[in-house]
Parts: sequence; structure tokens; C-alpha cells
Amino acid sequence: MAPVNDKGLTRLKLGVLISGRGSNLQALIDAAADPSFPAEIALVLSNKADAYGLERAAKAGIATTVVSHRDYPGDKPGFEAAMDARLRDAGVELVCLAGFMRLLSPWFVNQWHDRMINIHPSLLPSFKGLDTHQRALDAGVRFHGCTVHYVRAEMDAGPIIVQAAVPVLPGDDDHALAGRVLEQEHRIYPLAVRLVAEGRTRVDGDRVVIDGPVPALPALVNPPA
Ligand code: GRF
Repeated sequence: MAPVNDKGLTRLKLGVLISGRGSNLQALIDAAADPSFPAEIALVLSNKADAYGLERAAKAGIATTVVSHRDYPGDKPGFEAAMDARLRDAGVELVCLAGFMRLLSPWFVNQWHDRMINIHPSLLPSFKGLDTHQRALDAGVRFHGCTVHYVRAEMDAGPIIVQAAVPVLPGDDDHALAGRVLEQEHRIYPLAVRLVAEGRTRVDGDRVVIDGPVPALPALVNPPA
């Protein structure tokens, strides 16, 4: 049964998949600490036993599990079936990829179709893959950012739920730019989870329609006039 908070609201059960530091996991932990947040973390799953995110979860009293890809040499289906089983056993309703560094097969992606989201450190569809900040600097773009999207079998593709843009500033290196983007990642991942958990996102082909009022935004210009 879906968990109910003190206001009688049901909370969507999240499974967060990590491989490392877990700062986006922490943002979700912090958001879910508010009982009015419409989701809670049922399980944190890591493919690496030494992922720091596991400590963050344990500290917050959240169940953790490790499914190491190294225990399934040459057997990706076995690795993914084990992950899938742990998520289902925990009653997970939405999978959140948060720095999970294994590519998922079409089989796994289809198991969680429209029930799995990812955060990526670029304004998709630009800069899929790794090293996004240096590649944005090399391309000379004046805006960079981050994206939360539904997961499809193609890497870093799928209907976009939320994006945040940050300016690229004179003198930026990849570290400075990554920090500016990460700050926004920690804002938009909880926002995207909230929108999904509240049932406000509807996937319409390649696009996500957000139900409910969304205020108008001004255009951003960089460099400023
Ligand atoms: C983040 O930049 C996220 O966008 C990307 O991997 C990184 C994970 O960082 N998918 P953390 O583990 O959440 O700190």
C-alpha cells in the first residue's frame, strides 16, 4: 500500500539508483524530509559498495542495497533482473537515476517505461554523454544547464520534464561551471519528482505536458544588454 503522510497524502515510492557521491540523492532525501513532499525514498540501490551516497541514505534511515555488476560478469540480463527484483520487492513506483553509471538495456528501460527518470548535466539534447561541462565550454555556448527527463533506451534521451539554464561566465573552467550547474540539479530533481508524483506530467509522444498553471518566464540574455 502506498505510504501516507501525517496529512493523509499518499507518497509515491522512489527507488534511487546511484554509483557514487550522491549529492542529487541528498537533494531528494532533503526534499522528502518535508512530510508534505509527495514522494519518499523506499530504496537506494548502488552498483558500487563504496558509493558515498549509500552513507547518505543510511544516515537518513533509508534502506540501501548493492547490486554489483561485477557479480554478473558477461551477464547484463542477470544484473538487471537482480536490480529489477530489488526495486519491485521494495514497492518502488518511480525509479530515479542519480549518477548511476551503467548503461541500461532496452529490457530494463521497458520494465520502467514512463516510471523512470534521469538527471543529466546539460541542456539536452545538447551534450549527451560524459564530460558535458568541458564540451559546453569548448563549444562556446553562453548557456549551459541540466535536464530531468523520462528514460528511453537511447542514452540521455527521452521526454523532458524540467530544465534549468545557467550562464557560462568569462573565466569559467569546467569545475566552476559544474558547480553552477550542480546547484540547479539539486533544485530541479526534487521539482521534477514533485511534478511526477502529483500526477502533473503527461507524456505525449516525445514531449511532456505539465498540467496546471505555470507562470510566464522572462527570456534570458547572456551577455546581458
Ligand atoms: C550529476 O552531475 C548528474 O547530473 C549526473 O551524474 C552526477 C551525479 O552526481 N547524472 P551526484 O552523485 O548526484 O553528486
